[in-house]
Parts: sequence; C-alpha cells; structure tokens
Amino acid sequence: MNTPKSTKICRTPAEAAALLRDGALVALPTETVYGLGADATNPVSVAGIFESKQRPAFDPLIVHVADVSQVGQVVAEFPPTARQLADAFWPGPLTLVLPKRPEISDLVTAGLPGVGIRVPRHPLTREILQLAARPVAAPSANPFSGISPTTAQHVLDGLGGRIDAVIDGGPCQVGVESTVLSLMTSVPTLLRPGGITREAIEGVIGRVDVAVADPQQEDQAQPAPGMLSRHYAPRTPLSVVDSLNDAIPIVGKRTGLLTYGHSAAKIVADGFAEVEILCEQADLKMCAARLFAGLRRLDAAGLDAIIAIRFPGQGLGLALNDRLQRAASK
Ligand code: TXA
Ligand code: MG
Repeated sequence: MNTPKSTKICRTPAEAAALLRDGALVALPTETVYGLGADATNPVSVAGIFESKQRPAFDPLIVHVADVSQVGQVVAEFPPTARQLADAFWPGPLTLVLPKRPEISDLVTAGLPGVGIRVPRHPLTREILQLAARPVAAPSANPFSGISPTTAQHVLDGLGGRIDAVIDGGPCQVGVESTVLSLMTSVPTLLRPGGITREAIEGVIGRVDVAVADPQQEDQAQPAPGMLSRHYAPRTPLSVVDSLNDAIPIVGKRTGLLTYGHSAAKIVADGFAEVEILCEQADLKMCAARLFAGLRRLDAAGLDAIIAIRFPGQGLGLALNDRLQRAASK
C-alpha cells in the first residue's frame, strides 16, 4: 500500500511532462477516459501504477505515444495492416497489440509477447507526450474494477492521495475505453469492444475475429487478458434488462434507472427513486460520453438497486453493453 501523498493539480503540460520524466504517476485526460500515466521505460514507475490502483499484475497496460512516428520505441514490428489502421483511426480510441520491443518491461505487458499501443486524441495529453518524449503506460485512472473516470474530479475521488498529480482536461468526449485489436494473430482479433466500432475497422482491413472473453467462462483460458467479468462496477447492485417495459422498480427498495432514447415524461409515474437518461435521442455517442458519469451519479444516490436498459447490439452499442454487463457482474 502506498503511503498517502498529496496529489498535485498540474497547471501546464510542461509541468505534467516533467513529473512523468521524473518517474511520477500523473493522471491525464484522453478522449476515452482519464488514464494514470507513468514512464513506460521506468519499471519502478510502472510498478507504482499497479500498486496505487491495486491492479493485479496479470492485467497488461496500454502504452501511449504522441504520434505514429514514435511507435518504433515500443513495438518491434509495425506491419502494413497496422499502418492502415493508424492512418484511419489515430489519433483516436484504437489500441493495437503488436510484438513488443525488449526495452518495454514485462510488467507493462504482464509477460505477454505483445504490447498494446495507441495515439490518444486529447490535445493536452498529446502535448504532454510530445514534451515527455517517451512512451507512457496508462490504464484507466480508477481503483481496480471500479467505474472509469471521465473527469479530473472522478480521478481525485478514486485515487486522490495515492498518485502524484492530475491535470484537468475537461470531461472526456468519447467516454468508453479504446477498442483493443490484436495484430498478433493471422486474422486480427478484437479483444475489447470500444470507441472505434468493429464495423469501422472491418471497413478498413476486412475481416476481424472477435475473441472477447466470455464472462461466464472465467475459469477457462482468457483470450483477452484483463477482461474480467466484474469491472467498471458501482457499489450498488446493478441489473440489465432489454427494454423500458422490463424495468420494474423493486418493491420496498429504492431503485434507480439508467436509460436512454426517451424523455423523462415516460417514466415519472413508475416509482423509480432516481432516473438517469443518458440521451433522449438514443444517440449512442452521447450515451457513451455520459455512461460512466451517469453510473457514478446513481451510485452516489443512496439507492438499493440500479436497473439499466441494454443498448442495441451493434456499433458502439457493443462497447456500451460490454461495460454494462461487467458492471452488473457479481
Ligand atoms: O481508452 C483506453 O484504452 C484507456 C485510456 C487511458 O487510454 N485505457 C484503458 O486501460 O482502458 P485499461 O488498463 O483500463 O485497460 C487495458 C486493457 C487490459 O485490461 C487488456 O484487456 C487490454 O487492454 N490490453 C492491454 N495490453 C494488452 C496486451 N499486451 N495484450 C492483450 N490485451 C491487452
Ligand atoms: Mg480500466
């Protein structure tokens, strides 16, 4: 366990970059969620990430670089498929798993031969990466298995006193984590659905296999490490139903509703103690941007239970349902 430290609020990218170069743990905004950054070439700093998040060492970290010209510091190969995907989606929420360079510590990859790498889109963090001039390992900046942070305040709520610094870049615009795609297999394999849809990836490189771990099969070998069934989880018990018609408040319990695609008028009389409507128009991008903040608000409302409505099963809905399902897992 870390001894408590005071978590500094960085005012400038230069300050954050200098701290990272000194080996500090600095929470950074990305377009997906806030990440807890550390110099990926400094094993002591990387170990600090695992310690402060209480993250198990078998769960590998994503490495962030300022632009595609820096991938050679991290990966041993950058094949044409990777180049095509980088051209189409970087900077942005796509992580590619590629053979790692020996300089990247085994702690970063949890001993795997592949390393996850991406160029994030948030301008502040790109500037910090540029100034730090080294690859930065960064998992989501929340205690292990908790709800991912989409504001600097969320980071402080979860990790304040356990990390060196945070820099505020405003609320995250995408709101769910990057899509993780392995290029270590002959057919590229989707390891985690996220901010770039499978359909968009297939539009660029053709067929993609899906190897997202089945949460029902956790005792079997996991094709996607770190895809544990319980993740992104509020403290309040959460269940997921197919439609608003199936969302029935639990008798005698203060029940919250997490929904989208209609106005509050449809549900006022239904006996929910709290309602969070992510987006009245069912715009899935908007739902994604608000999902984790909505879950946090309901979790802080003193409820006995939360019911969430499932999203459509394609496009960004795949990532949203993945997060709901894991948040609901016991
Ligand atoms: O959007 C994001 O990806 C955010 C921001 C901060 O970049 N980061 C993030 O990191 O979500 P994290 O640690 O919460 O999730 C990383 C997951 C791992 O749990 C694992 O599923 C996958 O990415 N991953 C990372 N490196 C991998 C590798 N070498 N091989 C296979 N999967 C990997
Ligand atoms: Mg995470």
